[in-house]
Amino acid sequence: MKLEETLKAHGQEHLLDTAGLGEEEKRAYFDRLAAIDWDVVELWKNPEDLSGKGNITPIEGLSVREIEKKKEHFRTIGAKAIREGKVGAVLLAGGQGTRLGSSSPKGMYDIGITRPLCIFEQLISNLFDVVHACGAFVPLFIMTSEKNDAETRAFFEEKKYFGYDKSYVRFFVQDMAPSVDFEGKLLLEEKGRLALSPNGNGGWYSSLRRAGIEKEFPALEWINVFAVDNVLQRIADPVFVGATIESGKLCGAKVVRKAEPREKVGVLCLEDGMPSVIEYYELTDEMANARGADGYLAYSFGVILNYLFNLKRLREIAEERIPVHVVKKKIPYINEKGEHIAPEKENGYKFETLVVDMVRLMGSCLPFEVVREHEFAPIKNKTGVDSVESARALLEKNGVKL
Ligand code: UTP
Repeated sequence: MKLEETLKAHGQEHLLDTAGLGEEEKRAYFDRLAAIDWDVVELWKNPEDLSGKGNITPIEGLSVREIEKKKEHFRTIGAKAIREGKVGAVLLAGGQGTRLGSSSPKGMYDIGITRPLCIFEQLISNLFDVVHACGAFVPLFIMTSEKNDAETRAFFEEKKYFGYDKSYVRFFVQDMAPSVDFEGKLLLEEKGRLALSPNGNGGWYSSLRRAGIEKEFPALEWINVFAVDNVLQRIADPVFVGATIESGKLCGAKVVRKAEPREKVGVLCLEDGMPSVIEYYELTDEMANARGADGYLAYSFGVILNYLFNLKRLREIAEERIPVHVVKKKIPYINEKGEHIAPEKENGYKFETLVVDMVRLMGSCLPFEVVREHEFAPIKNKTGVDSVESARALLEKNGVKL
């Protein structure tokens, strides 16, 4: 079908106005339109279809106490895998950090007090702990988006990779997804330019694979995926790696114990026997308050976006579609008159995939409990909960000089 017909068939004739565009701009615009995944765009019609959950039951995991008993054993296994080049890490840095309100990549945000200390530097410093302990560099793949790729790369170059061996660092760019208004019309950010945004953190493996860079490290067997914003993050933690390998599971998830039954955090569980993450609002009161034989809340493993994935399994499931979430957002756009609008309230939907949805596809998962005060200091906001302030306090508690 010709592009024009395709657009008409999807009720998107408004995109055909190219008056005033140069030949080059027009070609780039049409190429982008031709690449649209209409199956995804059409999801705006029934976004709630995704939320249907199966039969939810608690999942067994390793508690801090159990890990403590076998720590050295796990560490030996994990450190060996790291030395053999079997463990890589993926830093998810393609987000826009809208809540923090900075236009630069979130990792460049300075959290220092008496000295400059950006988030990227703190993360590399955390990774160095493992490099020093194991005597080997860990391949680090950094996922950026079209919006922040150039700035992120330039920043790492300028800062000389914070001392990390740059031959172990690779960047790759995640895909972008279009946005629609509440009638399903694709939005434009400029004439001849769709309003695109990063397609969520669930696309990391397909983007990494397309970039072809995992093959540059042929020994890789495990990939530790982690978010840019948790500055207490332990990356490629040998104990976690060792425990996951020994468990025979295809995925490991670092989790923290929920502080109270109704805490707003996604929890690991089994859904129809498969590992899955259930959102706090999907838990009934009965489930939220239920306790296991060990006295802990039955659904108490809160996920902190730190997962270890088995690469062989990732390759097997590479072609499978992961769910696309249709999320209401404020999306800047141009209207029919060509005026730029920066909406004050939500005006449309974005399409995002989430890394949590990959856990289910992995088929098995080991919840690995960590101590929240030592490993979880996310920076989402400027002040208040999960903020620069709260993260600074936690870093200082853990002996980091700010
Ligand atoms: P968040 O869900 O906190 O999103 O990302 P965000 O974009 O950083 O921040 P807000 O919601 O706009 O304030 C969790 C992790 O996933 C990454 C982020 O960089 C962060 O490490 N992420 C998110 C991506 O890599 N790509 C995306 O498209 C979205």
